[in-house]
Amino acid sequence: MLTPSLQAANAAAALPPLGLPTVRLATSDDDAFVDDLQAIAFGPGRFARTAFRVRERFPIDPGLSLIAEVNGVPCGSVWMTPISVGGVDGYLLGPLATHPNFRKRGAGKLLAREVVRLAMSRGDGRFVLLVGDFDYYGPLGFVRVPEGRVIFPGPVDPTRVLLHSDDPSLVDRLEGPIAAFGAGSRS
Ligand SMILES: CC(C)(COP(=O)(O)OP(=O)(O)OC[C@H]1O[C@@H](n2cnc3c(N)ncnc32)[C@H](O)[C@@H]1OP(=O)(O)O)[C@@H](O)C(=O)NCCC(=O)NCCS
Repeated sequence: MLTPSLQAANAAAALPPLGLPTVRLATSDDDAFVDDLQAIAFGPGRFARTAFRVRERFPIDPGLSLIAEVNGVPCGSVWMTPISVGGVDGYLLGPLATHPNFRKRGAGKLLAREVVRLAMSRGDGRFVLLVGDFDYYGPLGFVRVPEGRVIFPGPVDPTRVLLHSDDPSLVDRLEGPIAAFGAGSRS
């Protein structure tokens, strides 16, 4: 059954022509849409995913929670979680999802690019980490982290751990369990 928050996305997709995606900060009014979108994109098993476990321990940053819109209708979402690894502060990207009716219009890559740009422009984190497909994120500047270096609170496919950093040497040095943002600088 279609939930109310997704009815606008389905209705808008049926009305050509659709404009280019745009991005804005999420507000509490978007909560139901984001919940429903993540359920569609990741299914009931999403709460068992390791990335979700990270977000249970460390809260997402609402200032880095973005919504993609087409013709003013929400169609995609991305979250960012401040973390640290081995005493180096950074951010964990995800989940990233676009409503199935709006895929292949650039919303996903726009969301990923913009949330990375916003996070890095703060100047307090040195990387963006994620678990995802290299084929999708590689063109956005993500590289593979050597297997086993970053310890997640659960199993991850080690070939899918990807990093974006302005410092090209960081990917070879980053090592340790995922901890709270600021953990390194406080110790
Ligand atoms: C992955 C996802 C966010 C992409 O959203 P989108 O708005 O369609 O993305 P874009 O329009 O920016 O990019 C689409 C392109 O990426 C490709 N693509 C999509 N998923 C991909 C993947 N997992 N690996 C490689 N390429 C992928 C598409 O085939 C398309 O290619 P094209 O432009 O050559 O046609 C969307 O498919 C989704 O929500 N999937 C389910 C949730 C998910 O897997 N999230 C990512 C977690 S890592």
